[in-house]
Amino acid sequence: MLHQLVYVSSSTEPISPDEISRILETSRQNNDRDDVTGLLLYHDQLFFQVLEGDQVCVQECFDRIKRDRRHGSTSVVWEYQVERRAFPQWSMGYAKPEDLSEESRSAAISLSKLLHKPADAREDPVIANLVQSVLSDFRGIT
Ligand SMILES: Cc1cc2nc3c(=O)[nH]c(=O)nc-3n(C[C@H](O)[C@H](O)[C@H](O)COP(=O)(O)O)c2cc1C
Repeated sequence: MLHQLVYVSSSTEPISPDEISRILETSRQNNDRDDVTGLLLYHDQLFFQVLEGDQVCVQECFDRIKRDRRHGSTSVVWEYQVERRAFPQWSMGYAKPEDLSEESRSAAISLSKLLHKPADAREDPVIANLVQSVLSDFRGIT
């Protein structure tokens, strides 16, 4: 079985396109090595990221990400064993809000509001639906 983890986080400062490129370069190197795949969305100091792969590798990756000073707080919104990867082709895909449909964009924005809620969001079916809506709709991602 594969492990899939989705979190939202806020960046401590606005992130430039160059910084995003550097994050993606490091991510792709490490994730290739660890057979981790996923997707990163960034907009307006908010990150939405999907990590999937072996449970230990995903956890180690997320531990590194949480220690990264470019983040403020991180909040896990989805964490399950899954049968198949959603993004088998990307060691770390990247999407901008304009790559998403209106529905997914508003789902991603709703998820980002969870950052300020201390409660564990993982058990909430509304949140699960929002995550699925974002996951099921990706177009034009590099
Ligand atoms: C938004 C964001 C997403 C990141 N995603 C990943 C990732 O998917 N994989 C990864 O290895 N590092 C990722 N990083 C970088 C890690 O936080 C960390 O800097 C890096 O893994 C350290 O790698 P090193 O120990 O090999 O230098 C991300 C950082 C940020 C800010």
